[in-house]
Amino acid sequence: MKKSALQRVRAEYQPKLPKDLQGDVKVKFGEATESVANQAEIKERFPHTYGMPIVQFENNDKPERVEEPFNVGIILSGGQAPGGHNVVSGIFDGLKKLNKENRLYGFLMGPAGFINHQYMELTAGYIAEYRNTGGFDIIGSGRTKLETPEQFEAGLKILKELNIKALVIIGGDDSNTNAAVLAEYYKNIGADVQVIGVPKTIDGDLKNEWIETSFGFDTACKVYSEVIGNIQRDCNSAKKYYHFIKLMGRSASHIALECALETQPNICLISEEVLAKRMTLDNIVSYICYVIAERAKLGWNFGTVLIPEGLIEFIPSMKTLIAELNEVLVEYADELESLEENEKLEAIHSHLSPVNADLYKMLPKTIALQLSLDRDSHGNVQVSLIETESLLSEMVAKRLAEMAEDGQYSGKFAAQHHFFGYEGRCADPTNFDADYTYALGYNAAMLINAGLTGYMSSVRNLTDSTENWICGGIPITMMMNMERRNGEMKPVIQKALVNLNGRPYLKFASMRETLALNTLYQYPGPIQYFGPAEICDRPSMTLLLEHNKEI
Ligand code: FBP
Repeated sequence: MKKSALQRVRAEYQPKLPKDLQGDVKVKFGEATESVANQAEIKERFPHTYGMPIVQFENNDKPERVEEPFNVGIILSGGQAPGGHNVVSGIFDGLKKLNKENRLYGFLMGPAGFINHQYMELTAGYIAEYRNTGGFDIIGSGRTKLETPEQFEAGLKILKELNIKALVIIGGDDSNTNAAVLAEYYKNIGADVQVIGVPKTIDGDLKNEWIETSFGFDTACKVYSEVIGNIQRDCNSAKKYYHFIKLMGRSASHIALECALETQPNICLISEEVLAKRMTLDNIVSYICYVIAERAKLGWNFGTVLIPEGLIEFIPSMKTLIAELNEVLVEYADELESLEENEKLEAIHSHLSPVNADLYKMLPKTIALQLSLDRDSHGNVQVSLIETESLLSEMVAKRLAEMAEDGQYSGKFAAQHHFFGYEGRCADPTNFDADYTYALGYNAAMLINAGLTGYMSSVRNLTDSTENWICGGIPITMMMNMERRNGEMKPVIQKALVNLNGRPYLKFASMRETLALNTLYQYPGPIQYFGPAEICDRPSMTLLLEHNKEI
């Protein structure tokens, strides 16, 4: 395959390694840990891996190498995130540093490759092609859930066949929850296989004191911010459109918030705030219309609105409607199957309770249909497929027309819609993500060498220079709580939603009114890989603010 000029030069980039990982490392054990909540239940379910201490690495003058060479397997799990290839290179280099004979195997297309025994050996030459590149195409990724003893046993067979001592699972909160279950299972049966997790997801919702950010968030947000900035320039040049921009991120609004801090749009909705204030769809539409009407008074009929992907699930009234719709669609499936679109909408409407029926009737037809047709394999509405950006702009247009009739609005309204998600998930990692992921991978190799299992690779102090990053591991069980999943209480890693008392949100909230009623767009421009550190190495604004730094 012919490489672009940037690909060729970027391949030469040598990620910076924290000083604690340079040379030989020794392990320092900290205090025993507890899970974030439901301690008794989590302890009961993880008798062998609960309460383990936090570990930190330090330079060592006396090498602590294992005598025998060993093999490691890796799985890339879930959605792509920039930097995955550098996690792989970091693990590979760490393993080779420990012993040149160590080998690395990659299971293909996510957990499915582990269960079905599809794998390849990752050699130096093969990995060289992928260093510092985006994507997970080195071995592919997948969303197969790794959760049953049958799957664990099938995986164990191939681990034993390949003489693999440790498995590294690179994934988000659910995949790392499964890594913890797998570690406990193997320990319980005395399988002698270690399991280590690496925190991945552009959504940024796998974080806590020890995992300061998940990898990929930095790059994805910078890609989205670049294009949002470009749109804002266009918007401010033509001065004739409102751009409704939906941003990926599943439930949490971290991506939308980071992009808002980077680009200073006129409006950014935050799902967590919508839930906390128990806002209705009507409240949200009223707020957007208020901003549009006020801007129209200033002669501005243009602007930008950022919308987090999961918004709809956080509007309490929509959540109730979706829950009832799920039941109606199952209960009246036979009746609904044969009906035409309009008849179907009428029939559904007639089966809903009065409050939900009113809300359903208020929705634009396309959205009502999307809510009624698209179901995932568990029978739930796939909210990510709902065009929230169109829903809001249609409702806003309708309301503005009413306001115009009442003499409360005299502007012009034309909307453009965008959804940014896949555009950012496989971008070449920023220097931050390239260094962070390489360190996470290298660090994972050291956790394996230390004989640990059920740990997540942890690299902290991320707003300091890379040299001073703190490396080690935390037991995955310490991030867990009990949650209801598919009608059952399960131990899962607690998802980190936007903290409404945190500095990133408070910073945005303090600017919100000014941004709405002025045109103060910021244009971050494209990611820079070469040049001054202040441009090339700057971490996300979210991270800077969370570390009490100024932006
Ligand atoms: P992960 O949590 O697996 O990293 O995936 C994140 C994500 O990019 C979400 O932001 C988005 O809602 C989802 O994946 C899209 O899923 P898919 O890749 O299956 O279309």
